[in-house]
Amino acid sequence: MLDLVVVGGYAAAEWQAGFDACGAPIRVHDADTAPPCRYALAWAPPAGFFASHPTLEVVFSMGAGVEHLLASDMPRDLPIIRLEDAGMAPQMAGYAVWGVLRHLRNFDTLAAAAGAGGDWGAWRSPPATDARVGVMGLGVMGQAVLAALAPLGFALRGWSRTPRDIAGVECHAGRATLDRFLDGLDALVCVLPHTPDTTDLLDAARFARLAPGALVLNAGRGSLIVDADLIAALDSGHLGAALLDVFREEPLPAGHVYLRHPRVTVTPHIAARTQIPLTARQVAVKIAQIEAGQSVSGRVDRARGY
Ligand code: NAP
Ligand code: GLV
Repeated sequence: MLDLVVVGGYAAAEWQAGFDACGAPIRVHDADTAPPCRYALAWAPPAGFFASHPTLEVVFSMGAGVEHLLASDMPRDLPIIRLEDAGMAPQMAGYAVWGVLRHLRNFDTLAAAAGAGGDWGAWRSPPATDARVGVMGLGVMGQAVLAALAPLGFALRGWSRTPRDIAGVECHAGRATLDRFLDGLDALVCVLPHTPDTTDLLDAARFARLAPGALVLNAGRGSLIVDADLIAALDSGHLGAALLDVFREEPLPAGHVYLRHPRVTVTPHIAARTQIPLTARQVAVKIAQIEAGQSVSGRVDRARGY
């Protein structure tokens, strides 16, 4: 049996059920009662957690994002392994498809109009195939989003840090190509990690590049967006709508402008939730690989920040 300590997120008993279900020889402990452990499964560990667990050799993130670990007081030489899909990618794809179709096919407006009566035959939706949809972040989440959007007929673009080649997608890479990627997009889907390079990336100048009436959908991290610039672009009428799942401060403070803005839809960081059974299975497989002396995928590169 291997001991694993969990901190943040869900309680040890829930994780134990997940590891038991996949037959993993792992005993799960809460942080305050754990014996010395070599493995941790963590979400936003509190200050002092790592000092009181000095035997840790590997830390698994309970999510795809790892900024909560990079910002913690964890020793810099402790490896971080992030989640790779583990049931989140299909959720993210569904969230993005919902948001993009809702906007580009005017579903809210049409539903309101139907409720108000009138001439049903007079309503028009622009053909979805005329629309340009861009995805920022072409990793596990971004590729799942693009795969789900592809059959819907949109003209697809993608943007990443290093060059990617995705069939049917006009791919751009690097900061120098960002404006070209954004130019004229009718919907922008963001699934970037929080890093120093992605912070404040979407500002007034970037929003101005998007097509009039465009949607901004952010399900990566809130630090990507200069909030005041997004609100100004919506208020000016240049942007049509924003669908936001992530924020600089979570939960959003009561009274935040996003909560009362007529063109902003807010969801509470639920675009893709951690799935305990699939996560436990992925972590168990990686622990077995580590125990066998093998390398594992999903290791975070501290220098690039994800
Ligand atoms: P991933 O596989 O590591 O992919 C990250 C992507 O972002 C990669 O394509 C990477 O480029 C790109 N990227 C990173 N820094 C960049 C930069 N400076 N410029 C351009 N592109 C950059 O991560 P993932 O699994 O797709 O997850 C992405 C993020 O989604 C997570 O970090 C998390 O913040 C967020 N997330 C949110 C939820 C939610 O519920 N809202 C759920 C899951 C994940 P390269 O391809 O060149 O490496
Ligand atoms: C959720 O936001 C995650 O990073 O998995």
